[in-house]
Amino acid sequence: MRITDGGRRSAAVFPSAIIHFGALLPLCVLAWRAWRGDLTFNPIQAVIQSSGRTAVHLLLLSLAATPAALLLRMPILTSVRRPLGLYAFAWAALHMFTFAVVDFGLNLPRIASELREKAYLWFGLLAFGLLLSLAITSTRGWQKRLGRRWKILHRTAYFAAALALLHFQASQKAEINMVVVYYAPLLAVLLILRLPTLRKALAARR
Ligand code: HEM
Repeated sequence: MRITDGGRRSAAVFPSAIIHFGALLPLCVLAWRAWRGDLTFNPIQAVIQSSGRTAVHLLLLSLAATPAALLLRMPILTSVRRPLGLYAFAWAALHMFTFAVVDFGLNLPRIASELREKAYLWFGLLAFGLLLSLAITSTRGWQKRLGRRWKILHRTAYFAAALALLHFQASQKAEINMVVVYYAPLLAVLLILRLPTLRKALAARR
């Protein structure tokens, strides 16, 4: 039993090392570009855009972990769902921090007027609220405390992703953009793969 647990643990080290590397690499790239003075003519906007995109990538990857585990028959992949989700939240927090503190100097009247002017910010705010509640309740303790309600709450990760994509889409000038072409179809596929019948069929494959 001990050997099996140890084997499982060391098998889990590999995907989690990749997750930490992949989720922190964009931070190193940002720091490197900032150090070289290569963050475009508007560095704050560059950080907001880069952190927002990284948050979306990590959120979608966290939602893809379970279907990938079923499709590839690699149950170990489900263990990366939580760290990916937490990293998505951390990047969204950096995104919001850059907007509210670095760009707007936490000037609440100015932030409020920006919120009135740009409706898409509300989608981002809602998505952030959901990610915050998912990050807080992601521990084993909360899982036990909430029981069956925990699963229901954590399904709202799909809703958070949809809100983040709406926010992303509405912030773009071009009508045909990355959200329409890549991200929204990907989220739709992930949602379809969650359908109970499809999920059961995938899990029953031998
Ligand atoms: C209170 C919460 C949020 C605020 C105030 C906020 C603010 C902003 C602002 C001002 C922009 C426009 C940047 C520009 O092009 O000048 C933006 C774009 C974006 N946001 Fe947010 N955001 C929030 C939440 C989120 C969340 C939770 C996510 C993802 C999980 C996200 C992802 C994005 C993405 C992907 C873009 C587009 C970046 C690009 O054009 O490349 N945002 N956000």
